[in-house]
Amino acid sequence: MDGKYLTYHGLLCPKETHCADSLKYFEEFQCRDDDVFIITYPKSGTTWMQEILPPLLSGGDLTAVTTLPNWERVPWLEETHAALLLDQRPSPRIITSHMPLHLMPPSFLSSKAKAIYVTRDPRDVLVSSFYFHQMASFLDDPGTFDEFIEKFLNGEVLLGKWTDHMKSWQKTDIANRMMYVTYEEMIKDLKGVIGSLSRFLDRDLSDEVLEAVAKHGSFNSMKTNMMSNYSLVPQQIMDTSKSSFLRKGIAGDWKNNFSPEQEAKFRAAIEEELEGSDVKLRWNEE
Ligand code: A3P
Repeated sequence: MDGKYLTYHGLLCPKETHCADSLKYFEEFQCRDDDVFIITYPKSGTTWMQEILPPLLSGGDLTAVTTLPNWERVPWLEETHAALLLDQRPSPRIITSHMPLHLMPPSFLSSKAKAIYVTRDPRDVLVSSFYFHQMASFLDDPGTFDEFIEKFLNGEVLLGKWTDHMKSWQKTDIANRMMYVTYEEMIKDLKGVIGSLSRFLDRDLSDEVLEAVAKHGSFNSMKTNMMSNYSLVPQQIMDTSKSSFLRKGIAGDWKNNFSPEQEAKFRAAIEEELEGSDVKLRWNEE
Protein backbone atom coordinates (compact mmCIF):
# COMPACT_ATOMS: atom_id res chain seq x y z
CA MET A 1 0.00 0.00 0.00
CA ASP A 2 0.99 3.61 0.42
CA GLY A 3 4.42 4.49 1.79
CA LYS A 4 2.77 6.02 4.85
CA TYR A 5 1.86 2.63 6.32
CA LEU A 6 3.39 -0.61 7.31
CA THR A 7 1.15 -3.65 7.16
CA TYR A 8 0.86 -5.75 10.29
CA HIS A 9 -1.14 -8.97 9.82
CA GLY A 10 -3.05 -7.18 7.07
CA LEU A 11 -3.73 -4.06 9.17
CA LEU A 12 -2.54 -0.63 8.06
CA CYS A 13 -0.42 0.96 10.78
CA PRO A 14 1.03 4.45 10.23
CA LYS A 15 4.83 4.50 10.09
CA GLU A 16 4.69 7.77 11.99
CA THR A 17 3.65 5.87 15.12
CA HIS A 18 4.58 2.22 14.49
CA CYS A 19 7.77 0.39 13.62
CA ALA A 20 9.09 -3.18 13.61
CA ASP A 21 10.56 -2.73 17.10
CA SER A 22 7.36 -1.33 18.59
CA LEU A 23 5.35 -4.22 17.16
CA LYS A 24 7.87 -6.69 18.55
CA TYR A 25 7.57 -5.01 21.95
CA PHE A 26 3.79 -5.31 21.65
CA GLU A 27 4.02 -9.04 20.89
CA GLU A 28 6.39 -9.76 23.76
CA PHE A 29 4.80 -7.43 26.30
CA GLN A 30 4.56 -8.74 29.86
CA CYS A 31 1.20 -7.82 31.31
CA ARG A 32 0.70 -7.29 34.99
CA ASP A 33 -2.49 -8.57 36.60
CA ASP A 34 -3.51 -5.06 37.58
CA ASP A 35 -2.98 -3.49 34.14
CA VAL A 36 -6.08 -1.86 32.69
CA PHE A 37 -6.53 -1.77 28.92
CA ILE A 38 -8.55 0.62 26.80
CA ILE A 39 -9.40 -1.22 23.59
CA THR A 40 -10.93 0.59 20.65
CA TYR A 41 -11.25 0.67 16.92
CA PRO A 42 -9.90 4.16 16.04
CA LYS A 43 -12.32 7.08 16.38
CA SER A 44 -14.62 5.32 18.84
CA GLY A 45 -13.78 7.32 21.97
CA THR A 46 -10.19 6.36 22.82
CA THR A 47 -9.05 9.84 23.85
CA TRP A 48 -12.17 10.24 25.96
CA MET A 49 -11.46 7.07 27.92
CA GLN A 50 -7.82 8.15 28.28
CA GLU A 51 -9.17 11.26 30.04
CA ILE A 52 -11.48 9.44 32.40
CA LEU A 53 -9.56 6.41 33.60
CA PRO A 54 -6.46 8.07 35.14
CA PRO A 55 -8.45 10.21 37.61
CA LEU A 56 -10.88 7.37 38.21
CA LEU A 57 -8.07 4.99 39.21
CA SER A 58 -6.38 7.59 41.37
CA GLY A 59 -9.42 8.63 43.40
CA GLY A 60 -10.07 11.84 41.46
CA ASP A 61 -6.49 13.12 41.17
CA LEU A 62 -6.29 15.28 38.02
CA THR A 63 -2.49 15.60 37.97
CA ALA A 64 -1.89 13.08 35.17
CA VAL A 65 -4.57 14.52 32.89
CA THR A 66 -3.33 18.06 33.35
CA THR A 67 0.41 17.42 33.05
CA LEU A 68 0.90 14.52 30.63
CA PRO A 69 -0.22 14.38 26.99
CA ASN A 70 -2.69 11.56 26.50
CA TRP A 71 -0.25 9.50 24.40
CA GLU A 72 2.21 9.47 27.32
CA ARG A 73 -0.41 9.16 30.01
CA VAL A 74 -2.13 6.10 28.49
CA PRO A 75 0.24 4.93 25.74
CA TRP A 76 -0.67 2.69 22.84
CA LEU A 77 0.99 -0.66 23.41
CA GLU A 78 1.79 -1.17 19.72
CA GLU A 79 3.26 2.29 19.15
CA THR A 80 6.79 3.64 19.42
CA HIS A 81 7.70 4.90 22.93
CA ALA A 82 5.54 2.29 24.66
CA ALA A 83 8.61 0.51 26.04
CA LEU A 84 10.04 3.77 27.32
CA LEU A 85 6.81 4.70 29.03
CA LEU A 86 5.53 1.40 30.35
CA ASP A 87 8.41 -0.74 31.61
CA GLN A 88 9.22 1.36 34.67
CA ARG A 89 5.71 2.68 35.31
CA PRO A 90 4.25 1.79 38.70
CA SER A 91 0.98 -0.12 38.83
CA PRO A 92 -1.76 0.21 37.96
CA ARG A 93 -0.75 0.97 34.38
CA ILE A 94 -3.42 2.10 31.94
CA ILE A 95 -2.62 1.03 28.39
CA THR A 96 -4.36 1.66 25.07
CA SER A 97 -4.54 -0.69 22.10
CA HIS A 98 -6.28 -0.67 18.74
CA MET A 99 -5.37 -4.29 18.06
CA PRO A 100 -7.84 -7.15 17.57
CA LEU A 101 -7.95 -9.75 20.32
CA HIS A 102 -6.23 -12.50 18.33
CA LEU A 103 -3.10 -10.35 17.97
CA MET A 104 -2.89 -9.35 21.63
CA PRO A 105 0.26 -10.60 23.40
CA PRO A 106 -0.02 -14.04 25.06
CA SER A 107 0.55 -12.49 28.49
CA PHE A 108 -2.61 -10.44 28.06
CA LEU A 109 -4.62 -13.64 27.77
CA SER A 110 -2.91 -15.41 30.63
CA SER A 111 -2.97 -12.41 33.01
CA LYS A 112 -5.89 -11.02 34.99
CA ALA A 113 -5.60 -7.60 33.33
CA LYS A 114 -8.96 -5.93 32.75
CA ALA A 115 -10.06 -4.47 29.43
CA ILE A 116 -12.60 -1.82 28.58
CA TYR A 117 -13.88 -2.05 25.03
CA VAL A 118 -15.39 1.17 23.70
CA THR A 119 -17.60 1.01 20.63
CA ARG A 120 -19.41 3.64 18.60
CA ASP A 121 -22.01 3.68 15.84
CA PRO A 122 -19.89 2.77 12.78
CA ARG A 123 -21.49 5.54 10.74
CA ASP A 124 -20.12 8.10 13.21
CA VAL A 125 -16.79 6.24 13.38
CA LEU A 126 -16.56 6.53 9.60
CA VAL A 127 -17.36 10.27 9.62
CA SER A 128 -14.85 10.96 12.39
CA SER A 129 -12.25 8.86 10.56
CA PHE A 130 -12.92 10.68 7.28
CA TYR A 131 -12.05 14.06 8.82
CA PHE A 132 -9.13 12.54 10.72
CA HIS A 133 -7.69 11.15 7.46
CA GLN A 134 -7.95 14.69 6.04
CA MET A 135 -6.13 16.41 8.88
CA ALA A 136 -3.46 13.80 9.78
CA SER A 137 -0.55 13.96 7.33
CA PHE A 138 0.58 10.45 8.36
CA LEU A 139 -2.61 8.96 6.90
CA ASP A 140 -3.71 8.61 3.28
CA ASP A 141 -5.90 11.31 1.87
CA PRO A 142 -9.46 9.96 2.25
CA GLY A 143 -10.61 11.09 -1.22
CA THR A 144 -14.29 11.93 -1.55
CA PHE A 145 -16.76 10.80 1.09
CA ASP A 146 -18.10 8.21 -1.34
CA GLU A 147 -14.59 6.88 -1.96
CA PHE A 148 -13.89 6.79 1.74
CA ILE A 149 -16.98 4.68 2.40
CA GLU A 150 -15.52 2.08 0.01
CA LYS A 151 -12.10 2.24 1.67
CA PHE A 152 -13.63 1.94 5.14
CA LEU A 153 -15.72 -1.08 4.14
CA ASN A 154 -12.67 -2.71 2.53
CA GLY A 155 -10.51 -2.05 5.58
CA GLU A 156 -8.14 0.17 3.58
CA VAL A 157 -7.99 2.58 6.50
CA LEU A 158 -6.17 2.88 9.77
CA LEU A 159 -6.24 -0.54 11.55
CA GLY A 160 -8.39 -2.40 9.04
CA LYS A 161 -12.07 -3.28 9.02
CA TRP A 162 -14.38 -2.06 11.77
CA THR A 163 -16.40 -5.27 11.51
CA ASP A 164 -13.30 -7.46 12.04
CA HIS A 165 -12.39 -5.52 15.16
CA MET A 166 -15.91 -5.83 16.55
CA LYS A 167 -16.12 -9.56 15.83
CA SER A 168 -12.73 -10.18 17.36
CA TRP A 169 -13.63 -8.64 20.73
CA GLN A 170 -17.11 -10.20 21.13
CA LYS A 171 -17.82 -13.33 23.16
CA THR A 172 -14.28 -13.75 24.29
CA ASP A 173 -12.86 -16.25 26.77
CA ILE A 174 -11.95 -13.29 28.94
CA ALA A 175 -15.49 -11.90 29.19
CA ASN A 176 -15.28 -11.87 33.01
CA ARG A 177 -12.56 -9.23 32.89
CA MET A 178 -13.97 -7.13 30.10
CA MET A 179 -16.41 -4.27 30.20
CA TYR A 180 -18.20 -3.03 27.08
CA VAL A 181 -19.02 0.67 26.91
CA THR A 182 -20.58 2.61 24.07
CA TYR A 183 -19.73 6.14 23.03
CA GLU A 184 -23.45 6.84 22.90
CA GLU A 185 -23.91 5.83 26.56
CA MET A 186 -21.09 8.18 27.50
CA ILE A 187 -22.80 10.99 25.61
CA LYS A 188 -26.10 10.30 27.41
CA ASP A 189 -24.84 9.76 30.94
CA LEU A 190 -21.12 10.21 31.44
CA LYS A 191 -21.32 10.22 35.23
CA GLY A 192 -23.34 6.98 35.18
CA VAL A 193 -20.76 5.31 32.93
CA ILE A 194 -17.93 6.52 35.19
CA GLY A 195 -19.81 4.99 38.14
CA SER A 196 -20.06 1.63 36.33
CA LEU A 197 -16.38 1.80 35.37
CA SER A 198 -15.39 2.48 38.95
CA ARG A 199 -17.31 -0.59 40.15
CA PHE A 200 -15.73 -2.71 37.40
CA LEU A 201 -12.29 -1.48 38.48
CA ASP A 202 -13.05 -1.96 42.20
CA ARG A 203 -12.81 1.71 43.04
CA ASP A 204 -15.23 3.16 45.54
CA LEU A 205 -15.61 6.80 44.54
CA SER A 206 -17.76 9.42 46.22
CA ASP A 207 -20.46 11.23 44.30
CA GLU A 208 -18.31 14.40 44.34
CA VAL A 209 -15.39 12.58 42.73
CA LEU A 210 -17.63 11.00 40.09
CA GLU A 211 -19.01 14.45 39.35
CA ALA A 212 -15.54 16.01 39.13
CA VAL A 213 -14.21 13.30 36.80
CA ALA A 214 -17.27 13.67 34.56
CA LYS A 215 -16.87 17.45 34.51
CA HIS A 216 -13.22 17.15 33.58
CA GLY A 217 -14.07 14.61 30.87
CA SER A 218 -16.71 16.77 29.19
CA PHE A 219 -16.11 17.67 25.55
CA ASN A 220 -15.72 21.40 26.32
CA SER A 221 -13.27 20.78 29.12
CA MET A 222 -11.19 18.43 26.95
CA LYS A 223 -11.23 20.93 24.08
CA THR A 224 -9.33 23.38 26.29
CA ASN A 225 -6.98 20.82 27.85
CA MET A 226 -3.69 21.06 25.93
CA MET A 227 -2.77 17.62 27.25
CA SER A 228 -5.75 16.08 25.45
CA ASN A 229 -6.72 18.21 22.46
CA TYR A 230 -3.61 17.33 20.40
CA SER A 231 -2.63 21.00 20.10
CA LEU A 232 0.91 19.96 21.16
CA VAL A 233 1.27 18.08 17.88
CA PRO A 234 2.93 20.19 15.14
CA GLN A 235 0.61 21.57 12.46
CA GLN A 236 2.44 19.65 9.71
CA ILE A 237 1.48 16.38 11.42
CA MET A 238 -2.07 17.30 12.38
CA ASP A 239 -3.44 20.20 10.37
CA THR A 240 -6.13 21.75 12.54
CA SER A 241 -7.05 24.20 9.78
CA LYS A 242 -8.63 21.17 8.05
CA SER A 243 -10.32 19.65 11.12
CA SER A 244 -9.89 19.58 14.89
CA PHE A 245 -9.00 16.29 16.53
CA LEU A 246 -11.78 16.90 19.05
CA ARG A 247 -14.07 17.76 16.18
CA LYS A 248 -17.78 17.68 17.11
CA GLY A 249 -18.09 15.18 19.92
CA ILE A 250 -21.69 14.20 19.22
CA ALA A 251 -23.66 11.06 18.42
CA GLY A 252 -25.42 11.03 15.06
CA ASP A 253 -23.19 13.32 13.00
CA TRP A 254 -23.49 10.71 10.24
CA LYS A 255 -26.86 12.27 9.41
CA ASN A 256 -25.03 15.41 8.27
CA ASN A 257 -22.65 13.48 6.03
CA PHE A 258 -24.30 10.39 4.50
CA SER A 259 -26.88 10.62 1.72
CA PRO A 260 -29.82 8.18 2.20
CA GLU A 261 -28.37 6.02 -0.60
CA GLN A 262 -24.90 5.97 0.94
CA GLU A 263 -26.33 5.09 4.33
CA ALA A 264 -28.46 2.24 2.96
CA LYS A 265 -25.46 0.81 1.12
CA PHE A 266 -23.18 1.14 4.15
CA ARG A 267 -25.73 -0.41 6.49
CA ALA A 268 -26.32 -3.36 4.16
CA ALA A 269 -22.58 -3.99 3.75
CA ILE A 270 -21.97 -3.90 7.52
CA GLU A 271 -24.93 -6.18 8.23
CA GLU A 272 -23.72 -8.66 5.64
CA GLU A 273 -20.22 -8.72 7.18
CA LEU A 274 -21.66 -9.31 10.63
CA GLU A 275 -24.17 -11.97 9.68
CA GLY A 276 -23.92 -14.96 12.00
CA SER A 277 -21.65 -13.09 14.45
CA ASP A 278 -22.44 -12.07 18.04
CA VAL A 279 -22.11 -8.37 17.32
CA LYS A 280 -25.29 -6.49 18.11
CA LEU A 281 -25.92 -3.40 16.03
CA ARG A 282 -27.66 -0.65 17.93
CA TRP A 283 -29.23 0.77 14.81
CA ASN A 284 -31.61 -2.17 14.90
CA GLU A 285 -33.03 -0.66 18.09
CA GLU A 286 -33.54 2.82 16.60
P1 A3P B 1 -15.68 13.35 16.27
O1 A3P B 1 -14.65 13.38 15.19
O2 A3P B 1 -16.99 12.76 15.82
O3 A3P B 1 -15.86 14.67 16.94
P2 A3P B 1 -10.65 8.62 19.21
O4 A3P B 1 -10.16 9.27 20.43
O5 A3P B 1 -10.98 7.17 19.38
O6 A3P B 1 -9.74 8.88 18.04
O7 A3P B 1 -12.06 9.27 18.85
C1 A3P B 1 -12.15 10.63 18.52
C2 A3P B 1 -13.61 11.01 18.55
O8 A3P B 1 -14.06 11.04 19.92
C3 A3P B 1 -13.85 12.41 17.98
O9 A3P B 1 -15.15 12.34 17.39
C4 A3P B 1 -13.81 13.23 19.25
O10 A3P B 1 -14.40 14.50 19.13
C5 A3P B 1 -14.60 12.33 20.18
N1 A3P B 1 -14.43 12.71 21.62
C6 A3P B 1 -13.29 12.80 22.32
N2 A3P B 1 -13.54 13.25 23.57
C7 A3P B 1 -14.87 13.45 23.65
C8 A3P B 1 -15.76 13.92 24.67
N3 A3P B 1 -15.32 14.31 25.87
N4 A3P B 1 -17.09 14.00 24.39
C9 A3P B 1 -17.55 13.61 23.19
N5 A3P B 1 -16.77 13.16 22.17
C10 A3P B 1 -15.44 13.08 22.40
